[in-house]
Amino acid sequence: MAKPLLKWAGGKRQLLHEIISRIPSGFSNYWEPFLGGGAVFFSISEESMGHSFVISDINPVLCLFYETVRNKPMDLAEYITSTEYHNTPADYYEARSRFNRLDGKVNPVEKSGLLIYLNRHCYNGLYRVNSRGEFNVPFGSYISPKMPVRDQIMSASSCLARSTIMNRDFQEILSETEEGDFVYLDPPYEPISQSSSFTAYSKGGFNRDQQKRLSSVLRELDNKGVKFLLSNSGNGYLADLYSGFNIVTVEARRNINSKGNRRGSVSEILVTNY
Ligand SMILES: C[S@@+](CC[C@H](N)C(=O)[O-])C[C@H]1O[C@@H](n2cnc3c(N)ncnc32)[C@H](O)[C@@H]1O
Repeated sequence: MAKPLLKWAGGKRQLLHEIISRIPSGFSNYWEPFLGGGAVFFSISEESMGHSFVISDINPVLCLFYETVRNKPMDLAEYITSTEYHNTPADYYEARSRFNRLDGKVNPVEKSGLLIYLNRHCYNGLYRVNSRGEFNVPFGSYISPKMPVRDQIMSASSCLARSTIMNRDFQEILSETEEGDFVYLDPPYEPISQSSSFTAYSKGGFNRDQQKRLSSVLRELDNKGVKFLLSNSGNGYLADLYSGFNIVTVEARRNINSKGNRRGSVSEILVTNY
Protein backbone atom coordinates (compact mmCIF):
# COMPACT_ATOMS: atom_id res chain seq x y z
CA MET A 1 0.00 0.00 0.00
CA ALA A 2 1.58 3.32 -1.08
CA LYS A 3 1.76 5.97 1.62
CA PRO A 4 3.09 9.54 1.73
CA LEU A 5 6.88 9.63 2.06
CA LEU A 6 6.89 13.08 3.65
CA LYS A 7 5.08 14.56 6.62
CA TRP A 8 3.39 17.73 5.36
CA ALA A 9 1.56 20.59 7.07
CA GLY A 10 -2.13 20.11 6.41
CA GLY A 11 -1.53 16.44 5.45
CA LYS A 12 -4.81 14.69 4.88
CA ARG A 13 -4.26 11.30 6.48
CA GLN A 14 -6.78 12.00 9.26
CA LEU A 15 -9.50 12.81 6.75
CA LEU A 16 -8.68 10.21 4.12
CA HIS A 17 -11.81 8.16 4.59
CA GLU A 18 -14.10 11.21 4.41
CA ILE A 19 -12.38 12.36 1.20
CA ILE A 20 -11.95 9.01 -0.57
CA SER A 21 -15.55 8.02 0.05
CA ARG A 22 -16.69 11.17 -1.79
CA ILE A 23 -14.53 10.79 -4.90
CA PRO A 24 -16.82 10.12 -7.87
CA SER A 25 -16.61 6.66 -9.40
CA GLY A 26 -16.49 7.71 -13.04
CA PHE A 27 -14.07 10.33 -14.38
CA SER A 28 -11.37 10.66 -17.08
CA ASN A 29 -8.21 12.21 -15.62
CA TYR A 30 -7.30 12.89 -11.98
CA TRP A 31 -5.76 16.29 -11.14
CA GLU A 32 -4.26 17.37 -7.80
CA PRO A 33 -2.75 20.89 -7.99
CA PHE A 34 -1.79 21.30 -4.26
CA LEU A 35 0.01 18.00 -3.82
CA GLY A 36 2.07 18.47 -0.61
CA GLY A 37 2.60 15.03 0.95
CA GLY A 38 0.00 13.58 -1.45
CA ALA A 39 -2.01 11.49 1.06
CA VAL A 40 -5.07 11.34 -1.22
CA PHE A 41 -3.08 10.79 -4.42
CA PHE A 42 -1.08 7.86 -2.97
CA SER A 43 -4.19 6.31 -1.51
CA ILE A 44 -6.18 6.26 -4.73
CA SER A 45 -3.53 5.95 -7.42
CA GLU A 46 -2.69 2.33 -6.65
CA GLU A 47 -6.27 1.24 -7.21
CA SER A 48 -7.20 3.51 -10.10
CA MET A 49 -5.03 1.84 -12.72
CA GLY A 50 -7.10 3.09 -15.64
CA HIS A 51 -6.78 6.82 -14.95
CA SER A 52 -4.07 9.22 -15.84
CA PHE A 53 -2.87 11.45 -13.00
CA VAL A 54 -1.60 15.02 -13.14
CA ILE A 55 -0.07 16.17 -9.87
CA SER A 56 1.48 19.54 -9.16
CA ASP A 57 2.73 21.84 -6.43
CA ILE A 58 4.27 25.30 -6.44
CA ASN A 59 7.21 24.08 -4.32
CA PRO A 60 10.07 23.22 -6.75
CA VAL A 61 12.04 21.11 -4.25
CA LEU A 62 8.98 18.99 -3.57
CA CYS A 63 8.43 18.41 -7.31
CA LEU A 64 12.10 17.51 -7.81
CA PHE A 65 11.69 15.06 -4.92
CA TYR A 66 8.72 13.29 -6.57
CA GLU A 67 10.54 13.14 -9.90
CA THR A 68 13.50 11.52 -8.14
CA VAL A 69 11.27 8.99 -6.35
CA ARG A 70 9.73 8.15 -9.72
CA ASN A 71 12.95 8.03 -11.79
CA LYS A 72 15.61 6.85 -9.33
CA PRO A 73 13.92 4.98 -6.47
CA MET A 74 16.76 2.47 -5.93
CA ASP A 75 19.40 5.21 -5.77
CA LEU A 76 17.27 7.18 -3.34
CA ALA A 77 16.64 4.15 -1.10
CA GLU A 78 20.37 3.44 -1.14
CA TYR A 79 21.18 7.04 -0.18
CA ILE A 80 18.72 6.90 2.73
CA THR A 81 19.98 3.60 4.13
CA SER A 82 23.60 4.62 3.89
CA THR A 83 23.26 8.20 5.19
CA GLU A 84 25.76 9.20 7.83
CA TYR A 85 23.45 11.78 9.35
CA HIS A 86 21.96 10.66 12.67
CA ASN A 87 19.39 12.07 15.07
CA THR A 88 21.55 14.74 16.70
CA PRO A 89 21.37 18.54 16.45
CA ALA A 90 24.94 18.68 15.06
CA ASP A 91 24.15 16.21 12.25
CA TYR A 92 20.83 17.89 11.56
CA TYR A 93 22.32 21.37 11.12
CA GLU A 94 25.14 20.01 8.99
CA ALA A 95 22.61 18.20 6.76
CA ARG A 96 20.50 21.35 6.58
CA SER A 97 23.36 23.53 5.38
CA ARG A 98 24.45 20.87 2.86
CA PHE A 99 20.85 20.71 1.58
CA ASN A 100 20.78 24.50 1.17
CA ARG A 101 24.07 24.55 -0.76
CA LEU A 102 23.18 21.68 -3.05
CA ASP A 103 21.88 22.21 -6.59
CA GLY A 104 19.03 19.71 -6.97
CA LYS A 105 19.25 19.72 -10.76
CA VAL A 106 22.84 18.45 -10.55
CA ASN A 107 22.37 16.17 -7.51
CA PRO A 108 18.68 15.17 -7.40
CA VAL A 109 19.22 11.98 -5.37
CA GLU A 110 21.23 13.63 -2.62
CA LYS A 111 18.92 16.68 -2.50
CA SER A 112 15.86 14.43 -2.23
CA GLY A 113 17.49 12.11 0.31
CA LEU A 114 18.38 15.10 2.44
CA LEU A 115 14.82 16.41 2.12
CA ILE A 116 13.50 13.13 3.61
CA TYR A 117 16.09 13.26 6.41
CA LEU A 118 15.23 16.90 7.23
CA ASN A 119 11.49 16.25 6.97
CA ARG A 120 11.70 13.40 9.50
CA HIS A 121 14.05 15.17 11.91
CA CYS A 122 12.89 18.81 11.81
CA TYR A 123 10.35 20.54 14.01
CA ASN A 124 6.84 19.28 13.16
CA GLY A 125 7.81 18.10 9.66
CA LEU A 126 7.48 21.69 8.46
CA TYR A 127 8.84 22.97 5.17
CA ARG A 128 9.72 26.64 5.58
CA VAL A 129 12.25 28.77 3.74
CA ASN A 130 13.67 32.23 4.46
CA SER A 131 13.73 35.17 2.03
CA ARG A 132 16.83 33.70 0.33
CA GLY A 133 14.96 30.44 -0.24
CA GLU A 134 16.97 28.55 2.40
CA PHE A 135 15.26 25.84 4.44
CA ASN A 136 15.36 27.15 8.02
CA VAL A 137 13.25 24.84 10.21
CA PRO A 138 14.98 23.96 13.53
CA PHE A 139 15.81 20.47 14.82
CA GLY A 140 12.76 18.54 16.06
CA SER A 141 14.19 16.55 19.02
CA TYR A 142 12.14 13.41 18.36
CA ILE A 143 13.13 10.29 20.29
CA SER A 144 13.40 7.94 17.31
CA PRO A 145 12.25 9.41 14.02
CA LYS A 146 11.62 6.80 11.33
CA MET A 147 12.91 7.09 7.80
CA PRO A 148 10.90 5.45 4.99
CA VAL A 149 12.13 1.98 4.00
CA ARG A 150 12.96 0.73 0.50
CA ASP A 151 9.52 -0.88 -0.05
CA GLN A 152 7.73 2.39 0.72
CA ILE A 153 9.88 4.21 -1.81
CA MET A 154 9.29 1.51 -4.43
CA SER A 155 5.47 1.60 -3.92
CA ALA A 156 5.42 5.39 -4.14
CA SER A 157 7.60 5.20 -7.24
CA SER A 158 5.21 2.90 -9.06
CA CYS A 159 2.29 5.28 -8.32
CA LEU A 160 4.35 8.20 -9.63
CA ALA A 161 5.30 6.24 -12.76
CA ARG A 162 1.73 6.65 -14.00
CA SER A 163 1.70 10.38 -13.27
CA THR A 164 2.66 13.66 -14.86
CA ILE A 165 4.44 15.81 -12.28
CA MET A 166 4.27 19.59 -12.71
CA ASN A 167 5.67 22.55 -10.78
CA ARG A 168 3.17 25.30 -11.52
CA ASP A 169 0.62 27.59 -9.94
CA PHE A 170 -2.81 25.95 -9.58
CA GLN A 171 -4.53 28.29 -12.05
CA GLU A 172 -2.19 27.37 -14.92
CA ILE A 173 -2.60 23.66 -14.24
CA LEU A 174 -6.36 23.79 -13.95
CA SER A 175 -6.75 25.64 -17.26
CA GLU A 176 -5.73 22.36 -18.92
CA THR A 177 -8.54 20.25 -17.41
CA GLU A 178 -11.30 18.96 -19.68
CA GLU A 179 -14.93 17.99 -19.34
CA GLY A 180 -15.24 14.67 -17.48
CA ASP A 181 -12.04 15.17 -15.41
CA PHE A 182 -11.92 15.15 -11.61
CA VAL A 183 -9.87 17.55 -9.46
CA TYR A 184 -9.04 17.14 -5.77
CA LEU A 185 -7.81 20.37 -4.15
CA ASP A 186 -6.28 20.91 -0.75
CA PRO A 187 -5.00 24.50 -0.73
CA PRO A 188 -3.08 25.91 2.23
CA TYR A 189 -5.12 27.35 5.05
CA GLU A 190 -5.29 31.08 5.19
CA PRO A 191 -2.50 32.19 7.57
CA ILE A 192 -3.85 32.52 11.10
CA SER A 193 -1.26 35.19 11.88
CA GLN A 194 1.87 36.56 10.24
CA SER A 195 4.03 34.25 12.33
CA SER A 196 1.83 31.21 11.75
CA SER A 197 3.56 28.19 10.29
CA PHE A 198 0.86 28.00 7.65
CA THR A 199 2.41 31.00 5.90
CA ALA A 200 5.38 28.79 5.19
CA TYR A 201 4.11 26.93 2.14
CA SER A 202 5.55 29.29 -0.40
CA LYS A 203 6.78 32.83 -0.58
CA GLY A 204 3.75 35.07 -0.22
CA GLY A 205 1.62 32.42 1.49
CA PHE A 206 -1.97 31.77 0.56
CA ASN A 207 -4.07 34.71 1.61
CA ARG A 208 -7.69 35.71 1.11
CA ASP A 209 -7.05 37.04 -2.43
CA GLN A 210 -5.63 33.65 -3.38
CA GLN A 211 -8.69 31.93 -1.88
CA LYS A 212 -10.92 34.19 -4.02
CA ARG A 213 -8.82 33.48 -7.12
CA LEU A 214 -9.22 29.77 -6.44
CA SER A 215 -12.98 30.01 -6.01
CA SER A 216 -13.37 31.78 -9.39
CA VAL A 217 -11.22 29.13 -11.07
CA LEU A 218 -13.45 26.45 -9.56
CA ARG A 219 -16.59 28.19 -10.86
CA GLU A 220 -15.01 28.09 -14.34
CA LEU A 221 -14.29 24.36 -13.96
CA ASP A 222 -17.87 23.77 -12.91
CA ASN A 223 -19.10 25.51 -16.09
CA LYS A 224 -16.73 23.36 -18.13
CA GLY A 225 -18.14 20.08 -16.73
CA VAL A 226 -15.15 19.21 -14.51
CA LYS A 227 -15.96 17.66 -11.11
CA PHE A 228 -14.09 18.96 -8.07
CA LEU A 229 -13.70 18.19 -4.38
CA LEU A 230 -12.05 20.89 -2.25
CA SER A 231 -10.97 20.50 1.37
CA ASN A 232 -10.20 23.54 3.49
CA SER A 233 -10.46 24.96 7.00
CA GLY A 234 -13.93 25.47 8.37
CA ASN A 235 -13.50 29.26 8.26
CA GLY A 236 -16.93 30.88 7.75
CA TYR A 237 -16.03 33.17 4.84
CA LEU A 238 -14.87 30.18 2.79
CA ALA A 239 -18.36 28.71 2.99
CA ASP A 240 -19.61 32.04 1.53
CA LEU A 241 -17.09 31.84 -1.34
CA TYR A 242 -18.52 28.45 -2.32
CA SER A 243 -22.20 29.20 -1.88
CA GLY A 244 -24.32 27.22 -4.32
CA PHE A 245 -22.06 24.14 -4.12
CA ASN A 246 -22.44 21.19 -1.71
CA ILE A 247 -20.62 21.90 1.55
CA VAL A 248 -20.21 19.46 4.45
CA THR A 249 -18.29 20.02 7.67
CA VAL A 250 -16.15 17.18 9.00
CA GLU A 251 -13.99 16.92 12.11
CA ALA A 252 -10.31 16.05 11.82
CA ARG A 253 -8.04 14.99 14.68
CA ARG A 254 -4.80 16.94 14.66
CA ASN A 255 -1.54 16.80 16.56
CA ILE A 256 -1.19 20.37 17.64
CA ASN A 257 2.30 20.38 19.03
CA SER A 258 5.60 18.85 18.05
CA LYS A 259 5.52 15.98 20.52
CA GLY A 260 2.02 14.99 19.47
CA ASN A 261 0.90 14.71 23.08
CA ARG A 262 -1.71 17.43 22.82
CA ARG A 263 -4.35 16.46 20.35
CA GLY A 264 -7.18 18.60 19.16
CA SER A 265 -10.04 18.41 16.76
CA VAL A 266 -10.41 20.96 13.98
CA SER A 267 -13.32 21.33 11.64
CA GLU A 268 -12.76 21.27 7.91
CA ILE A 269 -15.13 21.78 5.04
CA LEU A 270 -15.45 19.58 1.98
CA VAL A 271 -16.93 21.32 -1.06
CA THR A 272 -18.13 19.40 -4.12
CA ASN A 273 -19.95 20.40 -7.31
CA TYR A 274 -21.57 16.98 -7.82
C1 LIG B 1 -2.29 21.86 2.56
S1 LIG B 1 -0.89 21.52 1.55
C2 LIG B 1 -1.40 20.06 0.78
C3 LIG B 1 -1.34 18.88 1.74
C4 LIG B 1 -1.64 17.55 1.08
N1 LIG B 1 -3.03 17.40 0.78
C5 LIG B 1 -1.15 16.38 1.93
O1 LIG B 1 -1.88 15.39 2.13
O2 LIG B 1 -0.01 16.44 2.42
C6 LIG B 1 -0.94 22.76 0.33
C7 LIG B 1 0.15 22.71 -0.76
O3 LIG B 1 -0.16 23.75 -1.72
C8 LIG B 1 1.05 24.26 -2.26
N2 LIG B 1 0.77 25.60 -2.83
C9 LIG B 1 0.72 26.80 -2.20
N3 LIG B 1 0.37 27.79 -3.05
C10 LIG B 1 0.19 27.20 -4.27
C11 LIG B 1 -0.19 27.68 -5.56
N4 LIG B 1 -0.44 28.99 -5.77
N5 LIG B 1 -0.29 26.80 -6.58
C12 LIG B 1 -0.01 25.48 -6.38
N6 LIG B 1 0.37 24.96 -5.17
C13 LIG B 1 0.45 25.80 -4.13
C14 LIG B 1 2.02 24.25 -1.09
O4 LIG B 1 3.37 24.21 -1.55
C15 LIG B 1 1.57 22.98 -0.31
O5 LIG B 1 2.39 21.88 -0.61
